[in-house]
This record gives sequence, C-alpha cells and structure tokens, in this order.
Amino acid sequence: MLKIGVLVSGGGTNLQAIIDNINTGNITNSKIEVVISNNPNAFALERAKKAGIDTVCISPKDYSDRSLFNKALIEKIDEYNVDLIVLAGCMVVMPPELIQKYNNKIINIHPALIPSFCGKGFYGLHVHEEALKRGVKITGATVHFVDEGTDTGPIILQKAVEVRQDDTPEILQRRVMEEAEWKIMPKAIDLIANGKVKVEDRKVYISGGTK
Ligand code: GRF
Repeated sequence: MLKIGVLVSGGGTNLQAIIDNINTGNITNSKIEVVISNNPNAFALERAKKAGIDTVCISPKDYSDRSLFNKALIEKIDEYNVDLIVLAGCMVVMPPELIQKYNNKIINIHPALIPSFCGKGFYGLHVHEEALKRGVKITGATVHFVDEGTDTGPIILQKAVEVRQDDTPEILQRRVMEEAEWKIMPKAIDLIANGKVKVEDRKVYISGGTK
C-alpha cells in the first residue's frame, strides 16, 4: 500500500480527483495519510476532512525564519511515514533537504506542457495568460518528479489540450484541469503505486506503456 501525503494551498480540485479515483478503484494500492496546507483557509482542507483524511496546516507565516518552517514541514511528513509526496496546487517552494531526502518520491502537476510555459514565475493563471499571449494552439498539463530546479524534474505523464480562439485564461485553466490535470495526476499515482514507474538518467520509463 502506497502511503501518500498531499500538499495543497488552495481549492484542492486535484486532491478531489485523487480522492475520487481512489474511491472508484481507478487508483489502487494507495492511501492518503495526510493533507498538509500552508494556507489555513484552503478549501482543500475541507475536502480532506470530508473524506476522513488527517489535515495539518503548517504556514511559513507562523515561523520566525524559513529554516524553522522547513524543519517543521519535514518533521510532519516524516511523522506520517509517507512513500510519496504529491504537490497538488501547492504554492510553497519545497525545502532542498526534503527534495534530497525524498528523491524521486515527490510529484507535482504543472498546467502546461513542460518545457513550455514553466520555470520561475510560471504558476497559476499566469501560465495560461502566457500561453494565450503566445498564441499556441495546443497546451496541456505535465506530472513530473520534483528535483532542485523549478519544473525541471523527470516527466512522468503529459496530456495535450486544445486552445480555442475565444479562450480567456480562466476558461483555458478550467479546460486544462478537466481534460488533463484531473486525469494524469491520478493515473501517475496509480502507476507509481503499482511499481510501474522507473527513473533512469533523468528519464521516466513506464512498464506496459501509458495507455
Ligand atoms: C492547478 O492548476 C495546478 O496545476 C496548479 O495549481 C492549480 C491547483 O488547483 N499547480 P487545485 O487547488 O488542485 O484546485
């Protein structure tokens, strides 16, 4: 059984997709042990409570310096003994010590096809604003392992989404979530939980393919 810790900051629709896919059996061999938020008002916490999952709020604002926050976050994750950390709309920069300790055990969802529209400053609605500004016809989402860089870790799954001429950033964001994020994040977790994901030389290999 893969023990998962989910880190969130906001609405938690990706968290909800994971909960739903565990409940329907699309994700097997997995259990969410804890949901951790930096934001006490994140609706994601309500979703977790409703599903009977432990919730914890650890905010950088409650610590006098960043290293103390990092220590508290790592201690909490260690306490739950998780096998996989899922960043599902988590806006906090992960402590380097955590990334080293949980090497290839942290995954993130990014709302674009990496290496497009990613890296420093590319988060939230801004990603979709930039995609529209550039006039791309296809965007999408990417699930990747987290390394020390910003959106530079090994890519696990990607899914393309059509951009329409009359899209606003909000409309495009919603379509990317519905058609890509809520599908590939649960799928990546199921693949990992069933031992089908290997990382070699910064590349991900999936046994049996991704279909
Ligand atoms: C998603 O667009 C995700 O790609 C990005 O933040 C958003 C989180 O949404 N990293 P939610 O909190 O899962 O609803």
